[in-house]
Amino acid sequence: MKTPNLQGRSLLTLLDYSPEEIRFLLDLSKQVKDEAKAGEKKARFSGCTLAMLFEKRSTRTRCAFETAFGEEGGHPVFLSTQDIQLGAKESIEDTARVLGRMFSAIQFRGFKQSTVEALAAHSGVPVYNGLTDRFHPTQALADIMTFQENFGQVTGKTLCFVGDGRNNVARSLMVICSKLGIHFTVVTPPELNPGAEFLETCGALAAESGGKISVSGDTGAVSGAHALYTDVWASMGEEDKKTEREALLAPYQVNAALMEKTGRSDAVFLHCLPAVRGEEVTADVIDGPKSRVWDEAENRKHTIKALMLATLGALDDRS
Ligand code: CP
Ligand code: NVA
Repeated sequence: MKTPNLQGRSLLTLLDYSPEEIRFLLDLSKQVKDEAKAGEKKARFSGCTLAMLFEKRSTRTRCAFETAFGEEGGHPVFLSTQDIQLGAKESIEDTARVLGRMFSAIQFRGFKQSTVEALAAHSGVPVYNGLTDRFHPTQALADIMTFQENFGQVTGKTLCFVGDGRNNVARSLMVICSKLGIHFTVVTPPELNPGAEFLETCGALAAESGGKISVSGDTGAVSGAHALYTDVWASMGEEDKKTEREALLAPYQVNAALMEKTGRSDAVFLHCLPAVRGEEVTADVIDGPKSRVWDEAENRKHTIKALMLATLGALDDRS
């Protein structure tokens, strides 16, 4: 099969990527990880610049982009909304036009999906969504890389998200699973259902890939899952909903009893992090032998490097 050419592409949501393109990025991520483990030093981003725009806080995403780009000779520039005019004194469109004249690519983390879309539409350079209220696509790449490291061929395996079924992480997982033929179950109360329209979109993609998407309010639906995944109960920007979410989601905590309900002794636990021990997950699970969260966090860097190599046309070793 022809190698997909992603040069010049943005990643705003994985809905824009074909299953072949996603598989290509996952294969490239493995290659990048192997190179890192072998201690190979390369300079494939030499002469390139990356604008890193942050409206929200970040540890993993910022560090993954910054180290992946910088260690290969690129120059990343961190710009929080405290520092620049983004959407305050200057429109997103004008900021995009200016950044596009100075940078090879732009990373954006913030609130609205429409902001990252506007940056891509007006900058003329690849734009990477490092999390919006709606999607977290680079997270989903790292999640599936980790899933694959544990179970090999992921098509036909089952991933189960337990918690806030309409948040950015749950939605992005639903997209990637529906593209790759991974059975994806969301276990969430009816109030946090991902929504009929989005379910229909992903359901149609899953029908093409051989996957199955389902939503249940019953924790018994974790039965047979190869992995249980959870995320914080109140995402960034929803701090005022904390009490309400605690009441809704307390029955959906991932604990040893829920891991047991999968019925699989090889089931693993995944979490995008940061985690709140004692809320969405118990300490014995996240810190226990079934947890793969640190591999998952490390894989953020390998998948993000692979994405930037492919979209910046930097796959040839210029070291
Ligand atoms: N998982 C994730 O995106 O972590 P940060 O918020 O620390 O970037
Ligand atoms: N759903 C979480 C993910 C953090 C990585 C949030 O948006 O805060």
